[in-house]
This record gives sequence, C-alpha cells and structure tokens, in this order.
Amino acid sequence: MVESKPTAPGTIRKSAGQSGTGPGPITPDGSPVELYIESDAHGEDQVIHAAIPPASSILELGCGTGRITRPLLALGHRIVAVDESPDMVARIPETETVCSTIEALRLDRRFDVVLMMSFLVNVPDDEARHALLTTCAYHVRPGGTVILQQHDRESFARPRVLERDDHRLVIDEVEHLSGDRDAATMTHTLGDRTWSQRIVVQNLTEQQLTGNLAAAGLRFVEHLSPDKTWVRATPR
Ligand SMILES: C[S@@+](CC[C@H](N)C(=O)[O-])C[C@H]1O[C@@H](n2cnc3c(N)ncnc32)[C@H](O)[C@@H]1O
Repeated sequence: MVESKPTAPGTIRKSAGQSGTGPGPITPDGSPVELYIESDAHGEDQVIHAAIPPASSILELGCGTGRITRPLLALGHRIVAVDESPDMVARIPETETVCSTIEALRLDRRFDVVLMMSFLVNVPDDEARHALLTTCAYHVRPGGTVILQQHDRESFARPRVLERDDHRLVIDEVEHLSGDRDAATMTHTLGDRTWSQRIVVQNLTEQQLTGNLAAAGLRFVEHLSPDKTWVRATPR
C-alpha cells in the first residue's frame, strides 16, 4: 500500500464544497470512516456483478472501507481498491489496496472494469471531474468497462429523513445553487454516534455526462438502472 499522512480525527477539508464532522477519522471529502465500517451493501454489488463478465479484474476508485469490495470479491472478482484515505484502505486486508488520490493514480496495469461509485463523478469542479474520468480511461483495458454511479438529483430535491434498522439519515439545509449544483447536509445517526457531511454536487444531464466522458476518451454506452444513476462507459 502506498502510504500518506493519516487524517486526524474530526479533520475538516473544505475542498470542492465537501466537509464532515463527527467521531473518529473523517476523510478529506468529509466521509466518516466509522460509519462506513458499519455499513453494508444495499444491492450495489448486484448491479455491478450483473453488468460485468465473471471473474473480472476490477479497479475500484474511492473504495472506502470496502463496503462493496468485499461482496464483489465474494462473487469471484479480483479487485485493486483505491482510496486517498489511509484510514479507509486499512480496513480492507482482503485485497490489494493503493492509498492515492484518484486524480494522481497511474498504475502500470489495465483492468477489465474500472468502478467509480459514490457520486464522485458529480464533483462540482469541472477540472476535477475531468481528472477523475481521465484516470478511469487510463486504467480500463481496450474493450473494457467503466462503471459510474451518479448522484440522483431527486435525493437533494427537498429535505427528508430516511431510516433503516438503527441508521437514521437526515438530509437538510438543501440549497439549489447556480449552474445546476445542489448542496445538502447529510446527518447520519447510528446508536449514540452522529456524523454530518456537507455535500455539493454537480447534476449532470445525459448530454453533459456524454461530453465529459468523451473529453476523457470514454464513450457512454447505457444506463444500468431505471433511475439512470448507474452508467456503463467504454474506451472510445
Ligand atoms: C462516500 S465514501 C464511499 C466509499 C465506497 N465507495 C462505498 O460506497 O462504501 C467516498 C470515498 O471516496 C474517497 N474519495 C473521495 N474523493 C477521492 C479522490 N479524489 N481520490 C481518492 N479517494 C477519494 C473518500 O476518501 C471516501 O473513502
């Protein structure tokens, strides 16, 4: 694993409009490590598995604590898991990890599948989005697949509360910003622990996404889910 400086507990980095607070380590984009340690997949692994060949080699960008990595490994895929947070990748001893920003990543290998979930493609900065997609394009083999999970604009349309088992998520302080950007504060409560993460996203029309993919050397192929949040692309 490539080492970098650990994130101090409660650290806030207000880059690209993202920040986070709460117990335990917080990643530079505001994600709470302890929350992800206790979170399970909710069908994401099945969407991905259905879209790719058996026993694929996968480069997972922004893997977190391996919430999706582990189910995909169990389904027979081989994964290199990448995250800029050493606190996150330290939680995935089951497979090879790389601690790096996605933007700076340049491995000397190509993969059947490059996976970038968690709405990272909706980063509000256009140059940052281009850098992320360029990394996807660089690491996918000819004829391979890039799978992206986009933000669903409905989820920040208005404040709301979601509850599942003992996990309560409050989405509030919703702001609709210029340039079709949305911001919201997501407050997760799990037992007696609470984390808040301020998120700013760039909504992308199909035309904008297609253009962004093309600029990075990728071609939009299809949506993989009726809500259009899951996208398949391929090298041009
Ligand atoms: C919201 S968490 C989700 C983790 C995982 N994809 C999941 O669904 O459980 C987002 C992760 O992406 C990582 N991340 C965000 N931007 C990144 C970047 N530019 N380079 C590397 N990692 C990044 C964060 O450190 C965090 O672990």
